[in-house]
Amino acid sequence: APGSPALTPPMGWNTWNSFGCTIDDKLVRESAKKMVDSGMKTAGYQYVVVDDCWFNPQRDAQGNLQGASGRFPDMKALGDYIHSLGLKFGIYEAPGAKTCAQENPNLTYRYPGSTGSLGHEAQDARQFAAWGVDYLKYDWCSSDGTLADQVAGFTKMRDALRATGRPIVYSINPNSYHADKTGATYNWSQVADMWRTTEDIQAQWPNVTGIVDINAPLAAQSGPGHWNDADMLEVGNSGLKPEEWRSHFALWALMGSPLIAGNDIRSMPADVSEILRNPRLIAVDQDPLGAGGRRVRHDVQENTEVFAKPLSDGSVAIGLFNRSDATTTIRTTASQIGLSGNSFTLTDLWTGDTSTTSGDISASVPAHGVAAFKVSGGTPVTRTTSSLVGARSNR
Ligand code: DGJ
Repeated sequence: APGSPALTPPMGWNTWNSFGCTIDDKLVRESAKKMVDSGMKTAGYQYVVVDDCWFNPQRDAQGNLQGASGRFPDMKALGDYIHSLGLKFGIYEAPGAKTCAQENPNLTYRYPGSTGSLGHEAQDARQFAAWGVDYLKYDWCSSDGTLADQVAGFTKMRDALRATGRPIVYSINPNSYHADKTGATYNWSQVADMWRTTEDIQAQWPNVTGIVDINAPLAAQSGPGHWNDADMLEVGNSGLKPEEWRSHFALWALMGSPLIAGNDIRSMPADVSEILRNPRLIAVDQDPLGAGGRRVRHDVQENTEVFAKPLSDGSVAIGLFNRSDATTTIRTTASQIGLSGNSFTLTDLWTGDTSTTSGDISASVPAHGVAAFKVSGGTPVTRTTSSLVGARSNR
């Protein structure tokens, strides 16, 4: 949105994917500390985001939100601790009467109370600013509401946040429990700094590829201060294989999505930490040009795709994505990814190894894998069409 503090895609960690409503001050502090000790902070992660269920089911006598008694005794102190580590503090709320966990139509779990921000927008924004909040996730949680209602509700909190004078990244999700899924059909650039384009991610491969199918075609609306949010990372979570963790991470970086880890970083093994901290892929995600990666080739027979993300130095980051279940050699050319010239340097974004080519680019890619390269040395050419092999629409 105009005036956004998020000139590159926000990077951080969020409680929801691994912990749901089972969260407390101790978990958040330990995770923040681990964000520093694991090297994630050095790699660029900064927002520590406390998702749904942090609050007391009742507001206080003045209508103020309060941390859940017992679990979150002092939100200001938690923010101070996060800031003392050189990190930033994120929190969660919803534009309706209830948050998603309070509204939950799936009766397996429902958080008590009705403490959504409806009618309390300015008060809550001031409260967040007073606690030192740097990031608000604001989550539509109702089957009710037209697009106009959603735009009005989300805009109201945007203005309330900006009125506090504190730079607060505004992250919205228009999709929860809502049939229209306007996160993908409406361009929220003027309203929010990042917006979820899909329903919730799950640590299952078809879900991850389904998000790519919705998010990637929206690349043109992504840029500094306004990001397509493909949802939080499931890197390290069971349900995906290690190759799929890597592909998930590479694709999110190539699409220029926010990178918000959703695993238990306190106990993550070295291979997971290495994926999350890959400096070359993070640089692709954080490139100041802010171009969303486009799918420039889709081969229906092979079940492979080529993604290309132009970078600020004139080079192009590419992903050779093997969606099939067998190792496949995937090919592209400099011309197909939008570069002209006679000689190019390929930097493998996983290993850092370099090689040269006169224009042909190929790699043997394992099942569900992404080979990723930075292609430099050429001249960017304006692309107007994408190349489609086979019958399915590339969108
Ligand atoms: C739905 C969102 O998409 C999730 O990321 C999470 O914030 C939950 N709501 C919390 O209830």
